[in-house]
Amino acid sequence: MDSMQVNKGVAAVLVAGITFFVSGRVATLLVPEQTLTKSAITVEMPQAPSAAAPAPVLPFANLMAASDANAGKAVFAAAGCVACHSVNDGGKAGVGPNLYGVVGATQGARPGFSYSASLSGKGGKWTFDELNAWLTKPAAYAPGTKMSFAGLPDATKRANVIAYLNTLQATPLPMPAAEKLASASAAPAAAAAPAPAADEPLPVLLAKADVAAGQKSTMQLGCIACHSFNEGGKNGLGPNLYNVVGREKASHEGYVYSAVLKGKGGEWSYEELNAWLTKPAAYAPGTKMSFAGIANAQTRANVIAYLRTLAAEPKPLP
Ligand code: HEC
Ligand code: HEC
Repeated sequence: MDSMQVNKGVAAVLVAGITFFVSGRVATLLVPEQTLTKSAITVEMPQAPSAAAPAPVLPFANLMAASDANAGKAVFAAAGCVACHSVNDGGKAGVGPNLYGVVGATQGARPGFSYSASLSGKGGKWTFDELNAWLTKPAAYAPGTKMSFAGLPDATKRANVIAYLNTLQATPLPMPAAEKLASASAAPAAAAAPAPAADEPLPVLLAKADVAAGQKSTMQLGCIACHSFNEGGKNGLGPNLYNVVGREKASHEGYVYSAVLKGKGGEWSYEELNAWLTKPAAYAPGTKMSFAGIANAQTRANVIAYLRTLAAEPKPLP
């Protein structure tokens, strides 16, 4: 090895060293090694909300209480559930299991369907809340599920489709009562009729009742899933309600009532209808009407005012 090669070698080492040193300096200049005193990204927090408070998320029970089974049937079709599920009593399994009677049933346990281990291993019941979690994102609820469906991000659509599933059985589960919201001012204006501080007397509530709102409530609360309202309309799960105001209780032709309602006697006066619709199971324990009740007095009055119009000659208001 001659001195020339030694020098080249030394030079190479030096160049590498200098390059290393310089690049280290450059890096240090670019990224100073001091700790940041202030976060590089500042998130502007809004001041305490005043006028424009964000709409609070409604408890799911409230969405169920206001759900619309008919709209849910449309969701069932539009979201593609129909492609994989049959809904009729005794219907065949397709890509997914038959869904008749699924609400309230054991999870992953329909006869004649081979479930993923993930869903059949759950073993709980399909309550409204469980169905809500499942339909939000099936793959998150039951990782490895066979249901190839992304989920329904819209909570109202989920509530409606669950209300529809609930109608697919002889005795649907009662709808949950809407939860009282923490503060009245936080409630979005459109959510529900404002609850009066103390219930006014029924005649007062009926005098200012909104018939159109009452009709809308019969849809939102699911009365229409069980009752027809037109003259001569068929009995469904519940009796036809044409001319019910002033009619003798439990007397509609061709309908088989529970013994308890049959045994009540008397007419459906405004006061009696009001008591019944507040909480059917308390008014007539053992009633066949699976419906939790209408907690809001004005909403009840609106519904009764609407029922009153279903007659050739509506009864006079009290
Ligand atoms: C691509 C086909 C497909 C679509 C679309 C689909 N499902 Fe399913 N669904 C399945 C399959 C498969 C299962 C069984 C999942 C498993 O075993 O993990 C299932 C299971 C279920 C269950 C549980 C049944 C039980 O017995 O436990 C419910 C409830 C359900 N689906 C409702 C729906 C609803 C509501 C929609 C529409 C919003 C929907 N599904 C869309 C295929 C589908
Ligand atoms: C899940 C089905 C279902 C829902 C939802 C339902 N009902 Fe009923 N309804 C029934 C059944 C069943 C009966 C008969 C009860 C009995 O025999 O004990 C009944 C009875 C009644 C009666 C008494 C009728 C008579 O001939 O004596 C009225 C009034 C009534 N329902 C109004 C309503 C209103 C208003 C709503 C909505 C706010 C509603 N129902 C929601 C099933 C339902």
